[in-house]
Amino acid sequence: MVTTIKTAQRPPVGEEVLLAEAMQCQTDRPLETAPLTEEPAFAFWQQDIPDEYWALDAQELVERIHAAKARLAPRLVILGHHYQREDIIQFADYRGDSLKLARWAAEQRDKEYIVFCGVHFMAEAADILSGPNQVVMLPNMAAGCSMADMAAADDVYACWDELQEAGITDIVPVTYINSAASLKAHCGRHDGIICTSSNARTVLEWGLHQARRVLFFPDQHLGRNTAVKLGIPLEETAVWDYTLPAGSLGGNTVEQLERARVILWKGHCSVHARFSVEQIERAREEYPRIKVIVHPECRLEVVQAADGDGSTEFIARSIAEAPAGSRWAVGTEINLVSRLARENPDKLVFCLDPVVCPCSTMYRIHPAYLCWVLERLVAGRIVNRVAVDEETARWAKVALERMLAVV
Ligand code: 13P
Ligand code: SF4
Repeated sequence: MVTTIKTAQRPPVGEEVLLAEAMQCQTDRPLETAPLTEEPAFAFWQQDIPDEYWALDAQELVERIHAAKARLAPRLVILGHHYQREDIIQFADYRGDSLKLARWAAEQRDKEYIVFCGVHFMAEAADILSGPNQVVMLPNMAAGCSMADMAAADDVYACWDELQEAGITDIVPVTYINSAASLKAHCGRHDGIICTSSNARTVLEWGLHQARRVLFFPDQHLGRNTAVKLGIPLEETAVWDYTLPAGSLGGNTVEQLERARVILWKGHCSVHARFSVEQIERAREEYPRIKVIVHPECRLEVVQAADGDGSTEFIARSIAEAPAGSRWAVGTEINLVSRLARENPDKLVFCLDPVVCPCSTMYRIHPAYLCWVLERLVAGRIVNRVAVDEETARWAKVALERMLAVV
């Protein structure tokens, strides 16, 4: 019999924790496995992992994970997001960007256990889209997303109510998949939709066919970049500052909101905020004929200065399909960029930012957590299950399925 063990609730990713973790970023840091206790930011991570896992070294972890995986083989799948570290991605049966992994969860019903090596919102989406006989687990419950946490459900509900009260009613909510399940449900209930970085353009177009304007959260940059690609002038966008007191219309006048076709929640990704136009200029000076490719969570001026932008899958595919000898400066998370450099030895691939700074929450999926979750499964016990409550899942699924139907 399989039993589910109650585990710690997911702690929100506070700015102060991120700042403390960012202090660990270095120019010369190797991205190799160290025992969990030697990971610089371990003190912030999920602490209810048993002591026996804390000191396991890389070799022991690899052997134990392989052994547990082999025993669970026909019933288990390990999904890995592109930003996962190498010592995790080596165990992934299937890797991809948010859209690809969500599609996998919606279409594959034969695996009973889905161990999601990514962040919390991705595991929630997999739980919502997977079948009732499937169990989704996140190896470390502290693996959240700081951008997703910038849109607290109550703040978004309050914004929605304020807009309605101000007469801004011809509007649909669009949430980036980097958001809590409750917000996906909000979109489901209000005729809205979800997007990923792969399909934001098509989804935003869809939204603007449904209503005069869209409330886009939580990433202002993806929203703005996409709006500009659709030819919407910046004067027809507005930024909703969720840090302002209730009743202040997010820092806007009614006239500004009435003019806006896209109202952008003032969230951002701390990883992609590091990329700058100066870095692009430096790369072009040093390497003639270089191609610059960035993720659309980067700021507008960075996306506009680059040669191309797209999801992690798009970036990986563009480089894989490029001719030998081509040169690529990449504006996205370092674990993916380092992997692309290794997998494309006939090309020059490097990160625009010289400082090695991984997405600190993705990085919290340390192999010790994966080993713990798999070994408990072998023993018939489920730890770190991500299970969205039925009512939330029902409405979130409406919005997710709308997205999968549109793209
Ligand atoms: P992708 O869907 O492009 O993988 O993006 C997910 C993400 O969190 C990027 O920061
Ligand atoms: Fe969230 Fe940014 Fe990490 Fe992506 S890279 S998971 S948006 S914090």
